[in-house]
Amino acid sequence: MNRREFNRSMVIAAGGYFIAPRQAPSALRVNGGRIVEHLSALSEFGKNSQGGVSRVAYSEADLLGREYVMGLMRAAGLEVKVDAAGNLVGRRAGTDPARKPLVMGSHVDSVPEGGNFDGDVGSMGAIEVAQTLVENKLTTRHPLEVIIFSNEEGGTIGSHAISGEFNEKYFNLITNSGKTIRDGIRFIGGDPDKLASIRRKPGDIHAYLELHIEQGGILDTEKINIGVVEGIVGITQWEVKIEGFANHAGTTPMNQRRDAMLAAAKFIQAVNQIVTSVPGRQVGTVGKLQAWPGAYNVIPGKVILGLELRDLDAAKVTMLYQKIREEAAPIGKATGTTFNFTETNTIVPAPTDERIRRLIDETAKGLRLTTKWMPSGAGHDAQEVARLGPVGMIFVPSVGGISHSPREFSRPEDIANGANVLLHTLLKLDQMTLQ
Ligand code: GLV
Ligand code: MN
Ligand code: MN
Repeated sequence: MNRREFNRSMVIAAGGYFIAPRQAPSALRVNGGRIVEHLSALSEFGKNSQGGVSRVAYSEADLLGREYVMGLMRAAGLEVKVDAAGNLVGRRAGTDPARKPLVMGSHVDSVPEGGNFDGDVGSMGAIEVAQTLVENKLTTRHPLEVIIFSNEEGGTIGSHAISGEFNEKYFNLITNSGKTIRDGIRFIGGDPDKLASIRRKPGDIHAYLELHIEQGGILDTEKINIGVVEGIVGITQWEVKIEGFANHAGTTPMNQRRDAMLAAAKFIQAVNQIVTSVPGRQVGTVGKLQAWPGAYNVIPGKVILGLELRDLDAAKVTMLYQKIREEAAPIGKATGTTFNFTETNTIVPAPTDERIRRLIDETAKGLRLTTKWMPSGAGHDAQEVARLGPVGMIFVPSVGGISHSPREFSRPEDIANGANVLLHTLLKLDQMTLQ
């Protein structure tokens, strides 16, 4: 989809929707048309032939997209810095410099072959809220920050650095850009040797708000305007290395093989069986697999696959992982292979703040929008920020429940609604004492 087509699809879907900002704070509205324009312009960076983007973190497209976003942030009255982890941190002073910052944020990196809304809606929405405040000459009491976190899709790396939970073992992981995290951080203007300098402590923020697309189909199916997020799932990822023996595919009898791919197939089946063997909403995925040497006529001697488990309860993830490991041993024995597990990323489950949930709900209803309280099955930077202070998340519908796909789509009126809820929740939080 080119830029003109993107704009047209959004305008058609919006029914020409546009709300102009007004002066009185309660009647204040974001400029929905401007968010659409910014989303459309951002979609040019890393756009692919399927109509989505491949703007993976630390790629050239990511770098150029971030440049564009920094320009928007400056135009919205924010003083912008690239921090040591490559996060884009935009700040505008509040009327009381002694107060802790009130923060909004999201991300603009994408998964490979991703869409134009995951992270982008919350990022453009937060910048739009900052711009609406400036245009209406409104200054918050708390310093205002908009943070566009780096490498969210690769394991919320930028927010891990801010929360102090970045583990040095992540540095050498190869990312979807082909660069290691260390080189990637340098590529986007950060300094991996200075991550400690951006670490914040619990209590360092007043509150954090993130607007995001739901990425599932509940709001769309039930025709509800706003999701109030109750909690965000924990995610743990492992690299699983399976080693057998590469040998001739024509001459090695079936009963004399040590086929790493066969072991991987049995393992993937076992993951699915174990994850579905207990009640609940937990999920388990093998979403990545590579075999060596990778030829029709050679029995694979080595496979590396990516295993991911998610649930709101970290203990359940641990329990499932134990079962999976136990099951890997007999598979290894039966196939003459060995299994080796390395944990590559952990994001803890995080409940959102109950007071902020209620505030989002009230604010949405005050704007005559319908709400539903729901968990998030997707990971978000908000769960790292939750270590530092109270967080809240606002979901808007994803059409058809499609995400991490070029076919991801959220309607302009839903995006504008979400940004207006963000704006008014922020203004109310600015008046509240939360600690
Ligand atoms: C981020 O989008 C995730 O849930 O993996
Ligand atoms: Mn996201
Ligand atoms: Mn995502």
